[in-house]
Amino acid sequence: MANILDEFKFSHNADLDRSGKKLKVGIIGCGWIAEAHLKSYQKCPDVEVVAFADLIPGKARAFAERYGAAEGARFYNSDREMIDAETDLDAVSVCTYNRQHAPCAIYALDHGVNVLLEKPMCVTLDEAVEICRAEKRSGKVLSIGFQPRFDENMKMVKKIVSSGELGDIYYVQTGGGRRHGIPTPFGTSFIREDTAGLGALGDIGCYSLDMVLNALGYPKPLTVSGYKSGFFGKDPSYLDRPEYAEEFSVDDFAAAFVRLEGGIVLDFRISWAMHCDTPGDTIILGKKGGLRIPSTECWNGSIGGPMTVYHNVAGVCVDTKIPECDNDGDNFDKKIRSFCDAIEFGLPAPVPSSQILYNQAIIDGISRSAESGREVEINIPEI
Ligand SMILES: NC(=O)c1ccc[n+]([C@@H]2O[C@H](COP(=O)([O-])OP(=O)(O)OC[C@H]3O[C@@H](n4cnc5c(N)ncnc54)[C@H](O)[C@@H]3O)[C@@H](O)[C@H]2O)c1
Repeated sequence: MANILDEFKFSHNADLDRSGKKLKVGIIGCGWIAEAHLKSYQKCPDVEVVAFADLIPGKARAFAERYGAAEGARFYNSDREMIDAETDLDAVSVCTYNRQHAPCAIYALDHGVNVLLEKPMCVTLDEAVEICRAEKRSGKVLSIGFQPRFDENMKMVKKIVSSGELGDIYYVQTGGGRRHGIPTPFGTSFIREDTAGLGALGDIGCYSLDMVLNALGYPKPLTVSGYKSGFFGKDPSYLDRPEYAEEFSVDDFAAAFVRLEGGIVLDFRISWAMHCDTPGDTIILGKKGGLRIPSTECWNGSIGGPMTVYHNVAGVCVDTKIPECDNDGDNFDKKIRSFCDAIEFGLPAPVPSSQILYNQAIIDGISRSAESGREVEINIPEI
């Protein structure tokens, strides 16, 4: 019942009178994705983006000026400077590279500020645990930036699994990615260990994991045998910018076999670069039926064509095509709107850290297993 009411509020509250008080928001990290955050906030009549921070001097102001948001705003050279000075901030978007996710989110939460934290949640499981503890201490809203959650096709994946049509799930194959797509449009922050910490695994792997784990109700991960490589990123002859090869210090391909609570196994692979068109469709196998989701780029919630449910009807093998769903509105706008609604109406975080903690635990397990060359256990401490 609570969920139905929340969904009703979410779809209708855009027109509500919000008592005239605007949410004061700050943006931490004024790079590529900050643009999408700012543009979505600018569509919210009840939000005022009042402050911008970036470690690179002048970048925050230049960013705000580019999008017509500089007038009346304040500019800072770090997240801490902003949080210390802006004592009446309601919320921040943390749009820094991954290595700065945990320190920025924890500092903001510890100062009573609600946080929308970009994906992946962070780099390690230890960091994710500390972020969740800070959220618990603060009592503030922490939502993680998975905009595909708002996509109707992604919701349909969850609806199909939850409907019981597939029966008990025992096997999932997921992943996706690109043949040639190491992301370096704005420099090297995605490909360096000291900024990104994770390559394809963290950048797009987290989306594939979220698509299936969310559909399954986020079963707890137990063990993982993982693999990571970075052959292409380190090869100057492969790169559009050969000089980046020396800086490349993350993975451009990862794979894993993960055991989940409930006897479910998860077979996963993700790629920024490989000699193949796709590492495979997503397949969810249950005792009563199976679901195929055509391979996807993952990040925007799109699917590669209509899904198929495979089942038996009176002993006959039947394939049911699920028509692609239309989306009403932009997923990124919904991610921002739902975060603001959670703050204003005291709703639960739209993408809760308690779920993404498991996502991060798998990513962490894949990294540890890849380093040690053997299967590892996943132990998630109490929050
Ligand atoms: N949701 C999506 O669709 C999506 C898309 C792209 C990127 N992302 C995520 O967004 C994050 C940022 O990616 P990007 O492409 O914008 O990176 P980017 O390198 O373009 O920008 C990051 C900015 O953060 C700044 N920064 C780092 N630490 C800071 C701190 N403590 N205080 C203030 N500024 C700080 C850097 O100087 C840099 O300008 C990454 O975690 C990435 O995974 C999400």
